[in-house]
Amino acid sequence: MSESNSQPLDVIILAAGKGTRMYSDTPKVLHRVAGKAMLEHVIGSAQSLQAERIHVVVGFEAQKIKDSLADASVTWALQEQQLGTGHAVMQAMPSIPSKSIVLVLYGDVPLTSVQTLQALLDKTADNSLAILTCLSDDPTGLGRIIRDANDKPIAIVEEKDATPEQKKIRETNSGILAAPAVKLSEWISKLKTENAQGEYYLTDVIAMAVADGTAVSAVIAVDDKEVLGVNNRQQLAILERHYQQQQAQNLLLAGVTIADPSRIDVRGNLQCGRDVQIDINCIFEGNVTIGDRVIIESNVYLKNVEIGSDTVIHANSHLEGAEVGDRCQVGPFARLRPGTKLFDQAKIGNFVETKKAQIGPGSKVNHLSYIGDAELGSSVNIGAGTITCNYDGVNKFKTTIADGVFVGSNTALVAPVTLGKNVTIGAGSTITASVSDDSLALGRAKQRSILGWKRPVKK
Ligand code: UD1
Ligand code: CA
Repeated sequence: MSESNSQPLDVIILAAGKGTRMYSDTPKVLHRVAGKAMLEHVIGSAQSLQAERIHVVVGFEAQKIKDSLADASVTWALQEQQLGTGHAVMQAMPSIPSKSIVLVLYGDVPLTSVQTLQALLDKTADNSLAILTCLSDDPTGLGRIIRDANDKPIAIVEEKDATPEQKKIRETNSGILAAPAVKLSEWISKLKTENAQGEYYLTDVIAMAVADGTAVSAVIAVDDKEVLGVNNRQQLAILERHYQQQQAQNLLLAGVTIADPSRIDVRGNLQCGRDVQIDINCIFEGNVTIGDRVIIESNVYLKNVEIGSDTVIHANSHLEGAEVGDRCQVGPFARLRPGTKLFDQAKIGNFVETKKAQIGPGSKVNHLSYIGDAELGSSVNIGAGTITCNYDGVNKFKTTIADGVFVGSNTALVAPVTLGKNVTIGAGSTITASVSDDSLALGRAKQRSILGWKRPVKK
């Protein structure tokens, strides 16, 4: 229910069009802005407006769209032939109660703010029709808003039907409108196709409202990006940058230091503590939570990651599905894969890959290692080039390393294997059997030196 209005809200989202100019096998409304399908952005706005029901009108590639949004709580309406925006709205009307207010949105217009839409809905009090318009620098291709001598909107004329004089009008139609369901159904049922494109124009309802004495009001969008529809990938890129810029501004205003607000991408939810610093070209996906005083150096990719306070993620690191504690050091060039958990003060250095691995408090894996399906205790030191051999080609096995273990460089730990407390492994070992507490294990060929050996000489 909208705030100022006691009538229930039904939102219709039009998404039946083809999107020819995307030159894509993916339906247009599934193309993403900030990692989320445009249609999902629009559904999200409808949900924020507390819509009672959300109707999505699909046609072209309907099944693909329905499949990819199978979890969304929306009602699907099928428009088999794309006979115009008015015809598209008509397909959803039968499932809308007459007491509702209807808001028409578009699956390819993803960034209209909830405040703007609420302002539009507020104008429908007293049973009026409200349209969202925009002052365009280049109105080419868009419907023009015709106003009377008292500045009241009285009609929308499509570019293809406009006179040269009307084409000069800069106020354009976003297509978004809101009206009481009873009236909208009545107008829609009277639409005709007598126009340049032979379509049922939704825009014709404005003149019908004026004719039957319904008040028509217009809300002018403050920012033209709010009503920008995506017809090609150039417009998609414009909206992506706009959205990213907005997110960067919000983070700055919330106290995050960002080296360059034009070089950060947030494709999901990013939560930052106090005094977080983010260097250039970092990407945040899914849900990322960062504690206080964390430093994220350049070119870092974080997806579904939780990071404690006072941790540094050095340049060029890639973290996904990982949990990182307080005062940790990661990278540069580290890869933490899903199931990695670093306890406080753990350290993962360059060219180290971890997967399903717990690295205990203060433990270090500093260089060139793979630690997978492993559990490390506290204060463990893993030498350069250590590999947990966790896979025999069929099954995965676990490596368990107790507190205080020191593993020499270039060691292969063939799982399943357990190293007891304070075990030392000599460099270059291949460890195939478990080692008990406080022992030294060596698993390498004994060195042989030949005294006074002569190198071969060229014949
Ligand atoms: C429409 C408006 C125009 C406005 C412009 C803003 C009409 C007649 N004109 O024009 O005033 O300035 O949008 O972008 O409404 N759609 C369907 N089924 C259809 C036809 C369209 O679902 O049968 C959907 C499309 O997928 C698209 C949207 O409606 O998302 C707009 O359709 P489009 O054909 O692009 O309308 P325009 O001619 O651009
Ligand atoms: Ca269009």
